[in-house]
Amino acid sequence: MMGRNTGARDYPTLMPRQLQIKYYVEPDSAALARRAAQYFVEMVSEAVEAHGRARIAISGGTTPKAAFQLLADPNQPWRWRMPWEKLDLFWVDERCVPPDNSESNYRMTREALLDHVPLRPSQIHRIEGELEPEVAAARYESELRNSFRLEGAESPRFDLVALGLGDDGHTASLFPHTEAIHEMSRLATANRVPQRDTWRITLTWPVINQARSVFFLVAGAEKAAILHEVLTGPRDPERLPSQLISPASGILSFILDKDAAALLPASDEEGCGVLERER
Ligand code: 6PG
Repeated sequence: MMGRNTGARDYPTLMPRQLQIKYYVEPDSAALARRAAQYFVEMVSEAVEAHGRARIAISGGTTPKAAFQLLADPNQPWRWRMPWEKLDLFWVDERCVPPDNSESNYRMTREALLDHVPLRPSQIHRIEGELEPEVAAARYESELRNSFRLEGAESPRFDLVALGLGDDGHTASLFPHTEAIHEMSRLATANRVPQRDTWRITLTWPVINQARSVFFLVAGAEKAAILHEVLTGPRDPERLPSQLISPASGILSFILDKDAAALLPASDEEGCGVLERER
């Protein structure tokens, strides 16, 4: 099992075990958003069924926005099927900007979703991007510890973590060749991203891998090559941090549009495909 950060920057050489990668391919971005909205409702409802509440962590960027808008739309079924009162919403990562900044993941989510659905402030656990990066990361870690009532070295277990894939192979704010890739003892960390001359706050990959369910939402032809490399290429997490995502459940899901899935083995008539990858 993964021990505390030994300071040695190595990856736990777990016995290679297969990771089952399930991918669902949708014909276009509108169908992708509908599938993602459906998936959010199903996974949240399952968690509420199983243990009375659902704690999920969402990503920013552009791809999830349309799904958030569908979840908020009163003319769509998902708005009425989501058990909002049982949901606690967290973020996977945040940019180091104030919550009203156009770059803010919180702002994107507020405008697309939060302003339109019945979530109380106590159910919304945002990352305070406006603070000093180290302070924001430490406060978010305390928020996670308090919300999940963690003790000692316990790790939070999200019911669902929704990720995106950057065209450089990053996910969350785990960028290639950055410090956060090596952080295994903290729950959240401040990450200097020299290639973007910025700081980010991000959940660490061991926390993401503890989640009951983890899925990537990926769209567009510009992501096809990097997705193919992450899923079928040699293991190189330093260069492709998305390869660090290997949930303890042994299953990793991808919801894709046809263009993003273009280089993957053909899916079946239902648009489903499966790959096995060494952990
Ligand atoms: C962020 C995200 C990041 C995102 C990818 C994909 O803060 O930017 O959390 O990890 O998911 O960069 O972004 P797009 O969906 O915009 O392609």
